Amino acid sequence: MCGIVAYVGSKVARPILLEGLKRLEYRGYDSAGIAVLTGGKLHVARRVGRVANLQEAIEGQAAFDGSLGLCHTRWATHGGVTDFNAHPHTDDRHGIALVHNGIIENYAALKTYLQEKGHSFSSQTDTEVLVMLIGELYEGDLEKAVQAALREVTGAYAICVICEKEPGVLVCARKGSPLMVGIGSDNEYVVASDGAAIIAHTGRVVMLDDYNVVKMDAGGFRTTDIHNTPLSPRVQQLEIELEQIELGGFTHFMLKEIFEQPKSVRACISGRLDMREGRVVLGGLSSFAKELTKARRVVITAQGTALHAAMIGRYMLEDLAKIPTQTEYASEFRYRNPVIEENTVVIAVSQSGETADTLAALHEAKERGALALGVVNVVGSSIARETDAGVYLRVGPEIGVASTKAFIGQVTVLSLISMYMARKRFMSADQCLDLMKEMEAIPGKIERILEQAGRIKRITEKYVERENWLFLGRGYNYPTALEGALKLKEISYIHAEGMPAAEMKHGPIALINEGMPAVFIANRGRQYEKVMSNIQEVRSRGGHVIAVATEGDTEIAKHVQDVMYVPDVCEPLSPILTVVPLQLMAYYAAVARGHDVDKPRNLAKSVTVE
Ligand code: M6R
Repeated sequence: MCGIVAYVGSKVARPILLEGLKRLEYRGYDSAGIAVLTGGKLHVARRVGRVANLQEAIEGQAAFDGSLGLCHTRWATHGGVTDFNAHPHTDDRHGIALVHNGIIENYAALKTYLQEKGHSFSSQTDTEVLVMLIGELYEGDLEKAVQAALREVTGAYAICVICEKEPGVLVCARKGSPLMVGIGSDNEYVVASDGAAIIAHTGRVVMLDDYNVVKMDAGGFRTTDIHNTPLSPRVQQLEIELEQIELGGFTHFMLKEIFEQPKSVRACISGRLDMREGRVVLGGLSSFAKELTKARRVVITAQGTALHAAMIGRYMLEDLAKIPTQTEYASEFRYRNPVIEENTVVIAVSQSGETADTLAALHEAKERGALALGVVNVVGSSIARETDAGVYLRVGPEIGVASTKAFIGQVTVLSLISMYMARKRFMSADQCLDLMKEMEAIPGKIERILEQAGRIKRITEKYVERENWLFLGRGYNYPTALEGALKLKEISYIHAEGMPAAEMKHGPIALINEGMPAVFIANRGRQYEKVMSNIQEVRSRGGHVIAVATEGDTEIAKHVQDVMYVPDVCEPLSPILTVVPLQLMAYYAAVARGHDVDKPRNLAKSVTVE
């Protein structure tokens, strides 16, 4: 949450900062701000709204033409969405400006201390407290003042700081929130929350670890901890390409990412299916093969869409590998004193690899002795680095706030892990081979669903004025129903509930009235007949049923108002197909209602605060 970009070098900073900030807008878009040091003076502008507002506000102003600066796009935590609460924040003595992503938890006590020292505050933010503290401790060396201040704070931060008195110096630091330093040529540095803001300038980066402080100037860069102990960071190559973070002819990133899904699954399984031996090859797990064979229980923890993928993973691990598995909201797991017995494997599932609750749950699990695995998309992210081992999704950067291709990647990876563990136990090579063949055919089948996008759009538009929807499924497709409802809620602001189809009779059926849309996932499978009965229950109460059904099922069309067909597939892998029409429905509903699909209200892509 919140995006940060900073620059020091010999070029004009403004275009680098603003272009980078636009690429990070998915992290928060309540307000934006910039500070640039030009002619030895600090110039600051802050505006409620999108980065474009800010850009317009400083258009043509030479004051923002310096070569050292920082900027921020905000997702409000402390303090309302106002110009005053927008970042950068400044101190009141030395011309220090700071941008921050995270939460300073002891800000209230620090604020009282600083007020007693005579500082006055103009915002309600925790961030202003941190910059005032740096100012209070400043004795002519910005790096030292930052280190000293960070020794006093608790909470999470990724910060960039500049000071009028040190015109060529940029200092940044991190604990808990992501930050990386891009190393350009000729001592040029671009610091950002995410590689998307860096890749246009350089592919060489240092990913900061917790408590790292980096000072950059014309003489190079140095990394220390907050006690000024020098460190030797690892320079690595960013694994993204510019075209992956551009719209490439699509109207929205969400639509682009939905259409990328066949490619995503291909990338995800590439090199991981050994068809000759009938086994799955997961290099990331190979050093823990023994532990995984001995595993007696698996806990999968995540939030949001990733949790829905985790729930499907649970069904697969129990069904295919016969390992007792549970899923947990990371936010609950971390605080509820969970019992972790010997030989428990905890899997953290996260697109960003930065979700604060999932990261904290992972720490909790490790402390209690579990083997911690990650199913993560962003390479080098905090969760990826802090797990014992893991499997990357390889679906490329996901920019749309509504997660789509990452969900498909998560389900695919969890199915690979299930097959991998199943083969170490009871599954024969032939059984595994059958599943792998099904897996290989998935990308082509998703393509067939995408060909029906126009039809799915027309169906959606028939119901788009309705304010309450139900999503119902059973077995492997109960989590798919939850995911369909979440997608619709988050981008079209329509109230939707997902639940097991059988649960409806235990209360929610009271909601059904004339014309209420109920989306049933009714593909062929073990519970098909049961789902058909549930469909009748809704129909007989006036509800309008939209079914996701298996190609060739002509019978279902006689019982429902609308059908969206998916190709036939084995049950464990069916959610990878059945979710696609639901993603498209949510997308077309949001567009029809005139919403900003990629930047839904109140949301941010990566939830790095509790
Ligand atoms: O980055 P993560 O996968 O850890 O994010 C978890 C959730 O915040 C995320 O899936 C969220 O629910 C999406 N907006 C859903 O589309």
